[in-house]
Amino acid sequence: MASSTLSIAAIPGDGTGPEVTAEAIKVLAAVAALEGISYDIETLDWGGDRYLRTGEIIPDGGLDLLRRKDAIFLGAIGHPGVTPGILEKGLLLELRFKLDQYINLRPVKLLPGVETPLAGRGPGDIDFVVVRENTEDLYCGVGGYLKKGTPDEVATQSAVYTRKGCERCIRWAFDYTRKRNSPKKTLTLVAKTNVLTYGHDLWWRTFQEVAAEYPDVKTDYNHVDACCMWMVKNPDAYDVIVTTNMFGDISTALAGILQGGMGVAAGANLNPDVSPAGKRGVSMFEPMGGSAPKYTGTNKINPIAAINAMAMLLEHNGHPRAAARVDKAVAHVTGTKMTSQAAGRMGHGTSEVGDLVVAAL
Ligand code: IPM
Ligand code: MG
Repeated sequence: MASSTLSIAAIPGDGTGPEVTAEAIKVLAAVAALEGISYDIETLDWGGDRYLRTGEIIPDGGLDLLRRKDAIFLGAIGHPGVTPGILEKGLLLELRFKLDQYINLRPVKLLPGVETPLAGRGPGDIDFVVVRENTEDLYCGVGGYLKKGTPDEVATQSAVYTRKGCERCIRWAFDYTRKRNSPKKTLTLVAKTNVLTYGHDLWWRTFQEVAAEYPDVKTDYNHVDACCMWMVKNPDAYDVIVTTNMFGDISTALAGILQGGMGVAAGANLNPDVSPAGKRGVSMFEPMGGSAPKYTGTNKINPIAAINAMAMLLEHNGHPRAAARVDKAVAHVTGTKMTSQAAGRMGHGTSEVGDLVVAAL
């Protein structure tokens, strides 16, 4: 059981991360007061600035500090002064891996008033969820160079898939599809079994075996390239998708644009396990967008994605009513108060959008 006080670590991070995190925390404070939720937040200064100052990404003892929390809220990482990859690997991927957050949950829902690039589509047409495996595949960092820097250079980068890794993700996705209980009640495996005949064969076989335990859930299969076409052509055909880490990264970028872009798309990195002592895994919630350096400090960035991520944090940590209240307030604000979800064109500043959500609670 989670303790009765919800204990959160906030990592606002780089660029506009702190601005959107502030709005998400503002909304948390308001909904917590309304719903009688007790919480505490420890804010950590991890990110590019600290790295440039100290050379440290996650300080000594940092992971243990996080393990004692119920949840992590991450604003954004990515710093113009730091070589791309260092913070992504050293912070974001490190936390996903070390805290074994093996589910990357990405709801794709077009909210009222939000523009999608798909002509003729409205909120009822885009409402699906991608469950992305979050700890294996090309992300595991297995590979190397031979004869680096010479004309004969060889580079390898291996995709690693394990039975345990795909089974726990697939099983979670079946449970989730069952719980979501939409009229479609369909879980679609997205992979590339026609080319990745070892790793994705393992996924395919595991999917079939686990499916037998869920006779009430319909199943489907798409190759990833076909999925990208269908997602644009018939987004209404999807309910829940389960996929590998790399394909999940790419397909959720496409899906994120369909739902209105990085201003609204949020995701959760979940460790759904419970230790023998009853401690739940520590999960991390984040807006999908990056640190948007050019908007830093301008009050222009859209905080809706961060607020959506906070709603997911509440939902996952035993406060579904508060989460639903935030979701409803966000839909009211996107539907009636904002002119666009693009940074600088919202009709309001960052902090005003946060205020509007608070007022709508
Ligand atoms: C995402 C991002 C990350 C990923 C990057 C920043 C490492 O694109 O969360 O989708 O590839 O997983
Ligand atoms: Mg991505």
